[in-house]
Amino acid sequence: MTVESVQPANPGTPAATGTPAHPATSDLREPPLAGGAVPVLGHGLKLVRDPLAFMSGLRDHGDVVRLKLGPKTVYAVTTPALTGALALNPDFKIDGPLWESLEGLLGKEGVATANGPRHRRQRRTIQPAFRLDAIPGYGPVMEEEAHALTDRWKPGGTIDCTSESFRVAVRIAARCLLRGDYMDERAERLSIDLATVFRGMYRRMVIPLGPLYRLPFPANREFNRALADLHLLVDEIVAERRESGQKPNDLLTALLEAKDDNGDPIGEQEIHDQVVAILTPGSETVASTIMWLLQVLAAHPEHAEKVRTEVESVTGGRPVGFEHVRSLTHTNNVVVEAMRLRPAVWILTRRAVSDTALGGYRIPAGADIVYSPYAIQRDARSYTRHLDFDPDRWLPERAKEVPKYAMSPFSVGNRKCPSDHFSMTQLSLITAAVSAKYRFEQVGGSDDTTRVGITLRPQNLLLRAMPW
Ligand code: HEM
Repeated sequence: MTVESVQPANPGTPAATGTPAHPATSDLREPPLAGGAVPVLGHGLKLVRDPLAFMSGLRDHGDVVRLKLGPKTVYAVTTPALTGALALNPDFKIDGPLWESLEGLLGKEGVATANGPRHRRQRRTIQPAFRLDAIPGYGPVMEEEAHALTDRWKPGGTIDCTSESFRVAVRIAARCLLRGDYMDERAERLSIDLATVFRGMYRRMVIPLGPLYRLPFPANREFNRALADLHLLVDEIVAERRESGQKPNDLLTALLEAKDDNGDPIGEQEIHDQVVAILTPGSETVASTIMWLLQVLAAHPEHAEKVRTEVESVTGGRPVGFEHVRSLTHTNNVVVEAMRLRPAVWILTRRAVSDTALGGYRIPAGADIVYSPYAIQRDARSYTRHLDFDPDRWLPERAKEVPKYAMSPFSVGNRKCPSDHFSMTQLSLITAAVSAKYRFEQVGGSDDTTRVGITLRPQNLLLRAMPW
């Protein structure tokens, strides 16, 4: 099972979603207000206190609901079909508070926050590096990094899964997409910076204290240092590539040679922001997913054993490699099921460009719309035994029962993650490589409860790696 195989052939057409492309606004209803709002703060407190439970409960109030966040009205979409309709509808663009906060990190000129013609041009530039036929070229680096990970671990020793997962994710993204030896020495710096920056960004998004974040408290100083170092690193990488005069066939070369719509080279700021906008989502999301995969292997030894047996039978006992990934059915299904229950990207937002409609409801121009892949992927209306970890639900005969868009961890439409193949390949390879060598158990002090940040990950996962 791959995550793509649950995508419909012709998703999100008006007929598929029940939303006319240009409805008469007079026929439209206002979405109901979700229950539980309190005076002044509305639903804000509930959202901040337990965002996952809050988002998961919204479908009980309607397919599209209104939320009050202080004085502001935000719309939430709660069904798989309507999340697909939202992601595929050009009446909605990337904007809103989540993206405004992310611009401080990702820059204003990168692909993740751009819209319209600039976004289309930028996607054309980066897409070739992520195409299915480009992935085998990354195989040797992915293999090397997956095996280096297990070689670092001492049998019986304790693994700090947060730093180990970050390290391998950053190294793979940087070495594959920005080819160069310089990455070996810089990957460590990059992963420390990114971990600090993501922690601080999330705090700034949920508790917007504005000027207080400029005061010289240790946490603010640490955040500013990490953010400045991240941008410095990117400048160093770009400058060194230019000085080397080399033009390997990679994403960085594509960015350095990209032209704007007038045929002129793109500006320095855009090159910089593009590198940041690709490295940052590329490491935090993959790192969080690796942490959950390690947690799953420890929590479900029967699946760890099944993965190990599968790897051994496919490889004949040799080190697992890129060429084996396609044959590792159960391993791939473990990855997909882990992503279903703990999607790294748990919340997404859009902004309505004009007065429009979703599911027969009126959405005014400028409205912010939010939805949660976490809530969608755990909904009992879409999945039997919805909270069970059951990789076999992705076997072909059962996967077809899953409703359209009920499993879209990489999203769909023009903002779909470019790296779905790239990510799935490395995640399966890493899962196979670690399972072939070790089984895992949590040690004292480990905390695998969910930490909600820009992504979802375990609070502090510490595992003992034991040879089989
Ligand atoms: C966008 C998920 C890994 C680069 C997205 C979006 C999702 C997502 C859901 C769409 C956001 C939206 O609709 O608003 C994931 C997950 C990953 C992953 C679950 C791994 C488990 C990566 C990697 C890279 C990457 C490895 C690059 C190396 C990007 C970029 C965008 C994006 C550049 C913005 C695309 C655009 O706006 O056109 N990702 N991602 N992602 N992702 Fe990923």
